[in-house]
Amino acid sequence: MQPMLSLPITDWRAPHQGPAQAQAVETLERGAVLYLPALRFELEPDEQQFLTPDCLDGRRKNISLDPRKNRLQGTRLTGPQHEALLRMMRRFGEHALTLVEQLLPSYRTAITQARVSYRPAEVDDRRLSPRKDDRKLHVDAFASRPNHGHRILRVFSNINPEGRARHWRIGEPFEECARRFLPMIRPPLAGVHILLALLGVTRGRRSDYDHYMLQMHDRMKMDETYQHDAPRHEVNFAAGSSWIVFSDQTLHAALSGQYLLEQTLHLPVTAMRTPGHSPLRVLERIAGRTLA
Ligand code: SIN
Ligand code: FE
Repeated sequence: MQPMLSLPITDWRAPHQGPAQAQAVETLERGAVLYLPALRFELEPDEQQFLTPDCLDGRRKNISLDPRKNRLQGTRLTGPQHEALLRMMRRFGEHALTLVEQLLPSYRTAITQARVSYRPAEVDDRRLSPRKDDRKLHVDAFASRPNHGHRILRVFSNINPEGRARHWRIGEPFEECARRFLPMIRPPLAGVHILLALLGVTRGRRSDYDHYMLQMHDRMKMDETYQHDAPRHEVNFAAGSSWIVFSDQTLHAALSGQYLLEQTLHLPVTAMRTPGHSPLRVLERIAGRTLA
């Protein structure tokens, strides 16, 4: 499988031709990365000050913006600096959403905007437990935020000012990975979804889909043989480039790089051109039952 398709887009807002739109949907839904090497997110002169890991609060690796809130999490900046970083991240979010609406118009009415994150720390510097270590191949699945099979579409921009690429590894197709790991995973215990929600461990109830995705995420990261031997491609996303990926489907690992912006979007499976490619439908086919 080709892990990546490049499109020569230079403008976040420009409309696109039908064939480019069709190619974009096809690429993303089969689990490849849509690479936009010439799509740069420009910082304003007064935003250059944010190109330092000192923006972080020292506890988290990312600064995040919940679109429903007007405050950042994970930064130690306050006052006018906090406001200016918030504006930068909001602007990135608007650009990312506009790009998706122009390039993937069939998603337009169904897509919703989730968090924007800014990652000013060097990937290599993180000292984390295997489960939290995004240098290991994984699909995105979040312990506290069940999503019931909704797709996770992410738009990234490498804003590294020193010309350094972000280096990723991309793994095997989702279905192959699922066939490998699913037979090892026990079904959830009766009542556990309700209990986790009541205890406030999860925001809302987990579905069986969330259980299996989370287990796949954890097992994959903790399986050293898999991490060592699984099929992979190495890719470099240049400074000044952007890319889009369904990160719940495309196995990925961030190996190195610094200064990244990211917008998460959610899409119902029914809004896809080929819902059968979604992790939900793939897992349901393998499990032989409904999971969400
Ligand atoms: C990830 O989503 O696993 C990490 C992506 C990155 O920080 O490059
Ligand atoms: Fe990830």
